[in-house]
Amino acid sequence: MPDLDETSITSAVLARVQAAANPRVRQVSEALVRHLHAFIREVTPTEAEWEWGIRFLTEVGHMCTESRQEFILLSDTLGVSMLVDAINHRFPGGATQTTVLGPFYIPPPVFPNGADIRGNMRGSPMFVSGTVTGVGAEPLSGATVDVWHSDSEGLYDLQKRQQDSGVCGRGRLQTDRHGRFQFWTARPAAYPIPHDGPVGMMLEAQGRHPYRPEHIHFLISAPGHRKLVTHIFAAGDVYLDSDVVFGVKDSLIHEYVRHSGKTAPDGRVVQGQWYSLHHDFRLAADGPAGG
Ligand code: BEZ
Ligand code: FE
Repeated sequence: MPDLDETSITSAVLARVQAAANPRVRQVSEALVRHLHAFIREVTPTEAEWEWGIRFLTEVGHMCTESRQEFILLSDTLGVSMLVDAINHRFPGGATQTTVLGPFYIPPPVFPNGADIRGNMRGSPMFVSGTVTGVGAEPLSGATVDVWHSDSEGLYDLQKRQQDSGVCGRGRLQTDRHGRFQFWTARPAAYPIPHDGPVGMMLEAQGRHPYRPEHIHFLISAPGHRKLVTHIFAAGDVYLDSDVVFGVKDSLIHEYVRHSGKTAPDGRVVQGQWYSLHHDFRLAADGPAGG
């Protein structure tokens, strides 16, 4: 075995991983080695810097608990989650665009159409309605619509458990026979992702803010169709052009329409200011991922 040096080490490692029995493991290992070695050649870290990098990744791991996934935040803030999303959702034109799931999803409580899902969440009343159809606009009845969002201070119920807010601002509805759904909730707000750990430190060092623009999450599924994970963002939000996780798409930005003292579309009379949002979601038919 010849002495390995700066130029020959990469091919030596690549040769070694050829022993992998599983071709996908071989392919992934080769790509990892090629790109990692290219990264090191480009950055030429000092030994102290390399140690620092190892320590950073160790801290990312230590920060992970049942309710905090720092590696997902790292993937999100480096744009990797949205790249994986884009590669896996090369849907036909006409399907609603996708975006990140985020760390605050849990299977929500079931509500009847038209219910108020806000629980004891703070914020202005908001009426949300929509339809779920295929890309040809054919209504999908019985589709499952999971929704979740922050309160008016930008906090999800999961972040407030200790203060005993209970489960709120999340629910599961079913579309009616025309593919429609509607519910009441509290208007959310823009918020910073958890940034008291190594990812927050990285953002600061990179000169970046930790904010996501105001949004409501939707996870919609219907038999024979691809599951849709998306958000509807509030038009006019100051963070739309700089979402810390790169999740904004133009087609997902909509006005949260302001009203005062009027009867809502479902006949409810609301005192004071309230908001409404309507969106028609289009699901791609089942089929292979990718394009
Ligand atoms: C969210 O929108 O809930 C979210 C997405 C990515 C990182 C943190 C939060
Ligand atoms: Fe969110």
